[in-house]
Amino acid sequence: MPPLADYIGNADAFPILRKWDFYNHAGVCPLPRVAADAFRRYAAEAAAGAYLETSWYRDVESLRTAAAKLMNAAREEIALVKNTSEGLATIANGIEWQAGDRIATTAVEYPANVYPWMDVARRFGVELVMLPEETNEDGAKRVPLQSILDAAAHPRTRLVTLSHVEFASGQRHDLAAIGRFCRERGKLFCVDAIQTLGVLPVDVVAMNVDYLSADGHKWLLGPEGAGVMYCRRELLPQTRPLLVGWMNVINAEQYGDYDFILKPTAAKFECGSWNVPGFLALKASVELLASLGVEAIAERIKLLTDRLIAGLRAKGYAILSPRNPDEWSGIVSFATQAHDHGTIFRTLRKEHRIEIALREGRLRASPHFYNTEAQIDRLIDRLPPA
Ligand SMILES: Cc1ncc(COP(=O)(O)O)c(C=O)c1O
Repeated sequence: MPPLADYIGNADAFPILRKWDFYNHAGVCPLPRVAADAFRRYAAEAAAGAYLETSWYRDVESLRTAAAKLMNAAREEIALVKNTSEGLATIANGIEWQAGDRIATTAVEYPANVYPWMDVARRFGVELVMLPEETNEDGAKRVPLQSILDAAAHPRTRLVTLSHVEFASGQRHDLAAIGRFCRERGKLFCVDAIQTLGVLPVDVVAMNVDYLSADGHKWLLGPEGAGVMYCRRELLPQTRPLLVGWMNVINAEQYGDYDFILKPTAAKFECGSWNVPGFLALKASVELLASLGVEAIAERIKLLTDRLIAGLRAKGYAILSPRNPDEWSGIVSFATQAHDHGTIFRTLRKEHRIEIALREGRLRASPHFYNTEAQIDRLIDRLPPA
C-alpha cells in the first residue's frame, strides 16, 4: 500500500474530499474507496453466483485476525458483532451479577455504554455509579482519573466501564492506569473503544482490558452495523452469550445434531449469519489503516487537531477538550458565547459544505488523517470570530 502521505487530500482514495470538508469521524465516517469497492465486489459476486466461488467467509475470518492485531488480542478473543451496543449489551448480560454489586462509569458516556448497564442494574439489583465531569480552570472538561480509581476501589465495585475517549468532551482516559488498578484488585474492566480503535493505540494486554467493544463506522472508516467485541481469554468460560442461535455452537454446520455445546472462543457470542458485506467493507478499511500504522495515523491526527485548536483559540473560541499528552484525542470540542452554535453548524453545512457536529451543546470537529491542512484552515476561516 502507498505511504500515508499519498492519502492526504487524495480524492481517489477518499471520494468525500470531492464534495465535503468532513470533520465528523466521531459521528459517522465516509467510506474510503477500498471499502466502497468491497461492497461493489460483494454485490457483483452475490448477484452472479451467490456465495459460490467467493472467499467471503475466509475474508470475514481474516477481519477477525486483523481486528485482534489492532488491539493486541488473539483472534480467539474476538467476536464479530453488529455494533458497539451489541458488544456492550453482550458483556453486561454475560456476567453473573449478584444483588448489591456495583458498576462504575462516568455520567458523560454515550448511551451505548449506559443503557445496557442500567438494564442489568434494574434487573439484578446492581448499583450503577456515574461519575460527573468537572471543568478545569483552563475550561477543559474531564472526569478526573482519581474519581474513577476511587470508584473502582469501592469494595462492592465489580466492574468499571468507560469510553476510551468520551464522545462530547474528547477526553481520553488513561486506560493503562485504570486497567492496572482494576486488575490488581480483581475488578473487571470494560472499554467502549469506538472513538479510538485504529487511530490511537489500544493494547488490551498492556492496558489490562477485560472486555471491549467498537463498531467500525467512525475512525475505523467502515460502514455502520459491523463491529468487533473482545473478551479476554480467561473470561470466556464465565461470560454467557446474550443471544443464542445456530452459530454459537461447536458443530454449527451439523444442522440436525442439536449438539448444544458453545464454542470455546469468542465466536460463541455470534448467534447467526454474519453481516457479510459490512464485514468485507470493514476489513478493507481496517487493512488500509493497519498498513499505515496506528502511530503514524495518531501523529497526523494530533498535528491536524493542534492546528485546528490554535486557529480556534486565535478566533476567540473556548476549547473544551483536554489536550494533555495522555488525554488528547481526535475530538475537538469548542464553544462560543457570541453566536448560536446551531446557526454556526447549519451555516457551515449549507453555505460552505463543511461538516462538523453539535453534541451536548458544544461544537465538535473530528478530522481524520487524510484531511489536509488547507481544509483545516478553511474551517477556521469560515467560522465567525467568537
Ligand atoms: C462512545 C460511543 N459509543 C458508541 C457509539 C455508537 O454505538 P453503536 O455502534 O452501537 O451504534 C457512539 C456513537 O456515536 C459513541 O460515540
